[in-house]
Amino acid sequence: MKILVTGGAGYIGSHTVQILKATNPDIVVVDNLSTGFKESIPEGIIFEQGDIRDFDFMVQVLKKHKIEAIIHFAAKLIVPESILQPIEYYDNNTSGVLTVTRACREAGVKYIIFSSTAAVYGDANADVQFVDENSKISPLNPYGWSKFMSEQIIKDCEKAFGLKSVCLRYFNVAGAAEDGKNGQKTKNATHLIKVASEAACGKKVGLNIFGTDYSTPDGTGVRDYIHVEDLADLHVLALKYLAAGNISDTFNCGYGRGYSVKEVIAAVEKVSQKKINVTNQARREGDAASLVANSTKIKEKFQWKPRRDNIEIICQTAYDWENR
Ligand code: UD1
Repeated sequence: MKILVTGGAGYIGSHTVQILKATNPDIVVVDNLSTGFKESIPEGIIFEQGDIRDFDFMVQVLKKHKIEAIIHFAAKLIVPESILQPIEYYDNNTSGVLTVTRACREAGVKYIIFSSTAAVYGDANADVQFVDENSKISPLNPYGWSKFMSEQIIKDCEKAFGLKSVCLRYFNVAGAAEDGKNGQKTKNATHLIKVASEAACGKKVGLNIFGTDYSTPDGTGVRDYIHVEDLADLHVLALKYLAAGNISDTFNCGYGRGYSVKEVIAAVEKVSQKKINVTNQARREGDAASLVANSTKIKEKFQWKPRRDNIEIICQTAYDWENR
Protein backbone atom coordinates (compact mmCIF):
# COMPACT_ATOMS: atom_id res chain seq x y z
CA MET A 1 0.00 0.00 0.00
CA LYS A 2 1.24 3.53 -0.79
CA ILE A 3 0.99 5.57 2.37
CA LEU A 4 1.16 9.28 3.05
CA VAL A 5 2.23 10.30 6.55
CA THR A 6 1.42 13.91 7.42
CA GLY A 7 3.55 15.28 10.22
CA GLY A 8 6.13 12.58 9.54
CA ALA A 9 8.96 14.88 10.65
CA GLY A 10 7.41 15.24 14.10
CA TYR A 11 7.93 13.20 17.25
CA ILE A 12 5.29 10.47 16.91
CA GLY A 13 5.20 10.70 13.10
CA SER A 14 8.91 10.06 12.63
CA HIS A 15 8.96 7.11 15.05
CA THR A 16 5.99 5.64 13.19
CA VAL A 17 7.62 6.06 9.77
CA GLN A 18 10.71 4.25 11.06
CA ILE A 19 8.68 1.26 12.25
CA LEU A 20 6.27 1.25 9.30
CA LYS A 21 9.16 1.26 6.82
CA ALA A 22 10.04 -2.34 7.70
CA THR A 23 6.74 -3.67 6.36
CA ASN A 24 5.53 -0.84 4.06
CA PRO A 25 8.47 0.89 2.39
CA ASP A 26 6.23 2.94 0.05
CA ILE A 27 5.91 6.00 2.29
CA VAL A 28 5.68 9.70 1.48
CA VAL A 29 6.00 12.28 4.25
CA VAL A 30 4.27 15.67 4.15
CA ASP A 31 5.34 18.19 6.77
CA ASN A 32 5.55 21.98 6.89
CA LEU A 33 8.48 21.75 9.35
CA SER A 34 6.79 24.21 11.70
CA THR A 35 7.63 21.99 14.65
CA GLY A 36 9.11 18.93 12.93
CA PHE A 37 12.70 18.31 11.83
CA LYS A 38 13.72 17.18 8.36
CA GLU A 39 16.53 15.10 9.84
CA SER A 40 13.98 13.09 11.84
CA ILE A 41 12.53 11.61 8.64
CA PRO A 42 14.15 8.20 8.19
CA GLU A 43 16.47 7.74 5.22
CA GLY A 44 14.99 6.69 1.90
CA ILE A 45 11.57 8.21 2.55
CA ILE A 46 10.15 10.66 0.00
CA PHE A 47 9.58 14.08 1.56
CA GLU A 48 7.17 16.71 0.22
CA GLN A 49 7.36 19.96 2.18
CA GLY A 50 4.04 21.75 2.42
CA ASP A 51 1.02 22.50 4.52
CA ILE A 52 -1.93 20.15 5.04
CA ARG A 53 -4.27 23.15 4.74
CA ASP A 54 -3.12 23.72 1.14
CA PHE A 55 -5.73 21.78 -0.85
CA ASP A 56 -3.99 22.02 -4.24
CA PHE A 57 -0.70 20.87 -2.75
CA MET A 58 -2.35 17.94 -0.97
CA VAL A 59 -4.25 16.76 -4.06
CA GLN A 60 -1.13 17.03 -6.19
CA VAL A 61 0.90 14.95 -3.70
CA LEU A 62 -1.84 12.32 -3.33
CA LYS A 63 -2.26 11.93 -7.08
CA LYS A 64 1.42 12.06 -7.96
CA HIS A 65 2.27 9.26 -5.52
CA LYS A 66 -0.99 7.30 -6.02
CA ILE A 67 -1.62 7.31 -2.26
CA GLU A 68 -4.09 4.74 -0.92
CA ALA A 69 -3.89 5.48 2.82
CA ILE A 70 -3.11 8.52 4.96
CA ILE A 71 -1.81 8.50 8.48
CA HIS A 72 -2.63 12.01 9.63
CA PHE A 73 -0.44 13.25 12.49
CA ALA A 74 0.16 16.87 11.52
CA ALA A 75 -1.41 19.02 14.24
CA LYS A 76 -0.79 21.43 17.07
CA LEU A 77 -0.82 19.64 20.40
CA ILE A 78 -0.05 21.74 23.46
CA VAL A 79 -3.03 21.96 25.79
CA PRO A 80 -2.18 25.29 27.55
CA GLU A 81 -1.27 26.89 24.21
CA SER A 82 -4.62 25.81 22.77
CA ILE A 83 -6.43 27.79 25.47
CA LEU A 84 -4.57 30.96 24.48
CA GLN A 85 -4.75 30.31 20.72
CA PRO A 86 -8.05 28.54 20.01
CA ILE A 87 -8.32 29.90 16.46
CA GLU A 88 -4.89 28.57 15.53
CA TYR A 89 -5.84 25.17 16.97
CA TYR A 90 -9.15 24.92 15.12
CA ASP A 91 -7.47 26.16 11.96
CA ASN A 92 -4.55 23.75 12.07
CA ASN A 93 -6.31 20.74 13.51
CA THR A 94 -9.97 20.87 12.52
CA SER A 95 -9.78 22.90 9.35
CA GLY A 96 -6.68 20.87 8.51
CA VAL A 97 -8.77 17.69 8.64
CA LEU A 98 -11.39 19.30 6.41
CA THR A 99 -8.75 19.94 3.78
CA VAL A 100 -7.15 16.51 4.16
CA THR A 101 -10.51 14.73 3.80
CA ARG A 102 -11.51 16.91 0.83
CA ALA A 103 -8.21 16.00 -0.79
CA CYS A 104 -8.90 12.31 -0.01
CA ARG A 105 -12.24 12.60 -1.81
CA GLU A 106 -10.63 14.33 -4.78
CA ALA A 107 -7.80 11.81 -5.09
CA GLY A 108 -9.76 8.67 -4.20
CA VAL A 109 -7.83 7.80 -1.02
CA LYS A 110 -9.43 4.78 0.68
CA TYR A 111 -8.16 4.82 4.24
CA ILE A 112 -7.27 7.33 6.94
CA ILE A 113 -5.70 6.76 10.34
CA PHE A 114 -6.21 9.76 12.55
CA SER A 115 -4.26 10.92 15.60
CA SER A 116 -6.88 11.74 18.19
CA THR A 117 -6.43 12.16 21.90
CA ALA A 118 -7.58 11.19 25.36
CA ALA A 119 -8.18 14.92 25.85
CA VAL A 120 -11.61 14.34 24.22
CA TYR A 121 -12.77 12.76 27.51
CA GLY A 122 -11.86 15.70 29.77
CA ASP A 123 -12.86 15.29 33.39
CA ALA A 124 -16.36 13.97 32.82
CA ASN A 125 -15.59 10.41 33.86
CA ALA A 126 -14.14 11.12 37.29
CA ASP A 127 -16.30 8.37 38.78
CA VAL A 128 -14.67 5.64 36.68
CA GLN A 129 -11.10 4.43 37.00
CA PHE A 130 -10.62 3.70 33.30
CA VAL A 131 -12.21 5.45 30.34
CA ASP A 132 -13.36 3.34 27.44
CA GLU A 133 -14.29 4.49 23.96
CA ASN A 134 -17.93 4.97 24.99
CA SER A 135 -17.13 7.11 28.02
CA LYS A 136 -18.52 10.61 28.08
CA ILE A 137 -16.92 13.10 25.70
CA SER A 138 -16.24 16.44 27.37
CA PRO A 139 -13.02 18.17 26.33
CA LEU A 140 -11.61 20.72 28.76
CA ASN A 141 -9.69 22.68 26.16
CA PRO A 142 -9.71 23.73 22.48
CA TYR A 143 -7.08 21.09 21.68
CA GLY A 144 -9.46 18.32 22.78
CA TRP A 145 -12.39 19.90 20.98
CA SER A 146 -10.42 20.39 17.77
CA LYS A 147 -9.64 16.67 17.75
CA PHE A 148 -13.15 15.55 18.62
CA MET A 149 -14.63 17.68 15.83
CA SER A 150 -12.07 16.16 13.48
CA GLU A 151 -13.12 12.63 14.46
CA GLN A 152 -16.71 13.50 13.57
CA ILE A 153 -15.75 14.96 10.19
CA ILE A 154 -13.77 11.84 9.36
CA LYS A 155 -16.62 9.52 10.40
CA ASP A 156 -19.14 11.46 8.29
CA CYS A 157 -16.93 11.06 5.22
CA GLU A 158 -17.41 7.30 5.17
CA LYS A 159 -21.11 7.43 4.29
CA ALA A 160 -20.54 10.25 1.82
CA PHE A 161 -17.63 8.83 -0.17
CA GLY A 162 -16.46 5.63 1.45
CA LEU A 163 -13.40 6.82 3.38
CA LYS A 164 -12.59 4.09 5.91
CA SER A 165 -11.02 5.26 9.13
CA VAL A 166 -9.40 4.39 12.40
CA CYS A 167 -9.31 7.14 15.03
CA LEU A 168 -6.61 6.47 17.61
CA ARG A 169 -7.09 8.29 20.90
CA TYR A 170 -3.58 8.64 22.28
CA PHE A 171 -3.06 8.86 25.99
CA ASN A 172 0.29 10.35 27.12
CA VAL A 173 2.96 9.48 24.60
CA ALA A 174 6.55 9.54 25.83
CA GLY A 175 9.96 7.89 25.56
CA ALA A 176 12.38 7.52 22.68
CA ALA A 177 13.43 4.88 20.16
CA GLU A 178 15.07 1.94 21.90
CA ASP A 179 17.97 1.95 19.42
CA GLY A 180 18.75 5.51 20.55
CA LYS A 181 18.42 6.96 17.04
CA ASN A 182 15.31 9.06 17.53
CA GLY A 183 13.50 10.84 20.32
CA GLN A 184 11.53 13.95 21.19
CA LYS A 185 13.26 17.06 19.85
CA THR A 186 10.40 19.49 20.50
CA LYS A 187 11.60 22.97 21.45
CA ASN A 188 10.04 24.54 24.58
CA ALA A 189 8.45 21.20 25.44
CA THR A 190 5.73 21.14 28.08
CA HIS A 191 5.21 17.39 28.42
CA LEU A 192 6.04 15.96 31.80
CA ILE A 193 8.54 13.20 30.93
CA LYS A 194 10.36 15.41 28.43
CA VAL A 195 10.60 18.28 30.94
CA ALA A 196 11.66 15.93 33.76
CA SER A 197 14.37 14.46 31.52
CA GLU A 198 15.62 17.95 30.67
CA ALA A 199 15.73 18.78 34.38
CA ALA A 200 17.61 15.55 35.17
CA CYS A 201 20.16 16.45 32.47
CA GLY A 202 20.68 19.88 33.99
CA LYS A 203 19.12 21.69 31.01
CA LYS A 204 16.51 23.12 33.35
CA VAL A 205 16.85 24.16 36.98
CA GLY A 206 13.83 22.14 38.00
CA LEU A 207 10.26 21.22 37.42
CA ASN A 208 6.86 22.59 38.42
CA ILE A 209 4.20 20.21 39.67
CA PHE A 210 0.91 21.63 38.45
CA GLY A 211 -1.60 20.79 41.15
CA THR A 212 -1.09 18.80 44.35
CA ASP A 213 -4.72 18.94 45.49
CA TYR A 214 -6.39 16.62 42.99
CA SER A 215 -8.54 13.80 44.30
CA THR A 216 -5.88 11.24 43.35
CA PRO A 217 -3.86 9.05 45.76
CA ASP A 218 -0.98 11.55 46.11
CA GLY A 219 -2.86 14.68 45.00
CA THR A 220 -1.06 15.04 41.64
CA GLY A 221 -2.45 14.35 38.16
CA VAL A 222 -2.57 10.76 36.97
CA ARG A 223 -1.96 9.76 33.35
CA ASP A 224 -1.49 6.64 31.24
CA TYR A 225 1.96 6.95 29.66
CA ILE A 226 2.55 4.94 26.47
CA HIS A 227 5.95 4.39 24.83
CA VAL A 228 6.20 6.08 21.46
CA GLU A 229 7.29 2.87 19.69
CA ASP A 230 4.35 0.89 21.07
CA LEU A 231 2.14 3.65 19.72
CA ALA A 232 3.98 3.48 16.38
CA ASP A 233 3.25 -0.28 16.26
CA LEU A 234 -0.44 0.50 16.69
CA HIS A 235 -0.45 2.50 13.44
CA VAL A 236 0.96 -0.48 11.56
CA LEU A 237 -1.74 -2.69 13.10
CA ALA A 238 -4.44 -0.11 12.26
CA LEU A 239 -3.43 -0.19 8.59
CA LYS A 240 -3.58 -3.98 8.58
CA TYR A 241 -6.97 -3.84 10.30
CA LEU A 242 -8.42 -1.55 7.62
CA ALA A 243 -6.77 -3.38 4.72
CA ALA A 244 -8.35 -6.62 6.00
CA GLY A 245 -11.79 -5.05 5.48
CA ASN A 246 -12.70 -4.39 9.10
CA ILE A 247 -15.14 -1.62 10.00
CA SER A 248 -14.10 1.95 10.78
CA ASP A 249 -13.71 2.46 14.49
CA THR A 250 -12.18 4.46 17.36
CA PHE A 251 -9.66 3.05 19.82
CA ASN A 252 -7.99 4.13 23.04
CA CYS A 253 -4.20 3.87 22.92
CA GLY A 254 -2.82 3.43 26.40
CA TYR A 255 -1.69 0.60 28.66
CA GLY A 256 -4.52 0.83 31.17
CA ARG A 257 -2.13 1.82 33.95
CA GLY A 258 -1.93 5.23 35.62
CA TYR A 259 1.06 7.05 37.12
CA SER A 260 0.94 10.28 39.10
CA VAL A 261 3.21 13.24 38.40
CA LYS A 262 5.15 12.38 41.57
CA GLU A 263 5.56 8.74 40.48
CA VAL A 264 6.84 9.83 37.07
CA ILE A 265 9.36 12.21 38.65
CA ALA A 266 10.53 9.40 40.95
CA ALA A 267 10.97 7.11 37.92
CA VAL A 268 13.05 9.71 36.05
CA GLU A 269 15.15 10.26 39.18
CA LYS A 270 15.70 6.51 39.48
CA VAL A 271 16.79 5.89 35.89
CA SER A 272 18.94 9.03 35.74
CA GLN A 273 20.34 8.72 39.26
CA LYS A 274 19.78 12.47 39.53
CA LYS A 275 17.69 14.48 41.97
CA ILE A 276 15.15 16.81 40.35
CA ASN A 277 14.21 20.10 42.05
CA VAL A 278 10.44 20.35 42.19
CA THR A 279 8.17 23.29 43.02
CA ASN A 280 4.52 22.84 43.82
CA GLN A 281 2.32 25.09 41.74
CA ALA A 282 -1.40 25.69 41.29
CA ARG A 283 -3.34 23.47 38.89
CA ARG A 284 -2.78 24.14 35.19
CA GLU A 285 -5.89 25.23 33.33
CA GLY A 286 -7.39 22.57 31.08
CA ASP A 287 -5.91 19.60 32.97
CA ALA A 288 -7.96 16.60 34.08
CA ALA A 289 -7.26 14.98 37.45
CA SER A 290 -6.88 11.46 36.09
CA LEU A 291 -7.01 9.89 32.64
CA VAL A 292 -6.28 6.20 32.30
CA ALA A 293 -7.34 4.08 29.34
CA ASN A 294 -9.46 1.03 29.24
CA SER A 295 -7.55 -0.46 26.32
CA THR A 296 -9.32 -3.81 26.11
CA LYS A 297 -10.81 -2.99 22.72
CA ILE A 298 -7.56 -2.29 20.88
CA LYS A 299 -5.83 -5.23 22.54
CA GLU A 300 -8.58 -7.56 21.33
CA LYS A 301 -9.33 -6.15 17.88
CA PHE A 302 -5.70 -5.57 16.86
CA GLN A 303 -4.32 -8.49 18.89
CA TRP A 304 -1.91 -5.94 20.31
CA LYS A 305 0.67 -7.00 22.84
CA PRO A 306 2.49 -3.91 24.08
CA ARG A 307 6.22 -4.51 24.31
CA ARG A 308 7.34 -1.56 26.40
CA ASP A 309 4.62 -1.32 29.05
CA ASN A 310 6.97 -0.18 31.78
CA ILE A 311 7.35 3.36 33.15
CA GLU A 312 11.08 2.86 33.70
CA ILE A 313 11.68 1.86 30.05
CA ILE A 314 9.76 4.95 28.97
CA CYS A 315 11.71 7.25 31.30
CA GLN A 316 15.06 5.57 30.61
CA THR A 317 14.77 5.93 26.82
CA ALA A 318 13.56 9.55 27.21
CA TYR A 319 16.40 10.40 29.59
CA ASP A 320 19.12 8.66 27.52
CA TRP A 321 17.95 10.51 24.41
CA GLU A 322 17.91 13.84 26.23
CA ASN A 323 21.30 13.21 27.73
CA ARG A 324 22.85 12.45 24.36
C1 UD1 B 1 -2.33 16.33 26.91
C2 UD1 B 1 -3.55 15.53 26.59
C3 UD1 B 1 -3.17 14.29 25.86
C4 UD1 B 1 -2.46 14.69 24.61
C5 UD1 B 1 -1.29 15.54 24.94
C6 UD1 B 1 -0.78 16.10 23.67
C7 UD1 B 1 -5.21 16.03 28.32
C8 UD1 B 1 -5.82 15.60 29.57
N1 UD1 B 1 -4.28 15.19 27.80
O1 UD1 B 1 -1.57 15.61 27.81
O2 UD1 B 1 -4.29 13.54 25.51
O3 UD1 B 1 -2.07 13.57 23.88
O4 UD1 B 1 -1.64 16.63 25.76
O5 UD1 B 1 0.05 17.15 23.84
O6 UD1 B 1 -5.53 17.07 27.81
N2 UD1 B 1 2.72 18.34 34.53
C9 UD1 B 1 3.40 18.93 35.59
N3 UD1 B 1 4.50 19.68 35.32
C10 UD1 B 1 4.96 19.88 34.04
C11 UD1 B 1 4.27 19.27 32.99
C12 UD1 B 1 3.16 18.52 33.27
O7 UD1 B 1 3.02 18.79 36.76
O8 UD1 B 1 5.97 20.58 33.86
C13 UD1 B 1 1.57 17.48 34.84
C14 UD1 B 1 0.28 17.96 34.22
O9 UD1 B 1 -0.40 18.87 35.02
C15 UD1 B 1 -0.45 16.62 34.03
C16 UD1 B 1 0.67 15.63 33.74
O10 UD1 B 1 1.84 16.23 34.27
O11 UD1 B 1 -1.07 16.23 35.22
C17 UD1 B 1 0.88 15.36 32.27
O12 UD1 B 1 0.95 16.58 31.57
P1 UD1 B 1 1.51 16.70 30.07
O13 UD1 B 1 2.71 15.85 29.95
O14 UD1 B 1 1.62 18.14 29.74
O15 UD1 B 1 0.39 16.02 29.18
P2 UD1 B 1 -1.20 16.19 29.23
O16 UD1 B 1 -1.55 17.62 29.33
O17 UD1 B 1 -1.75 15.22 30.21
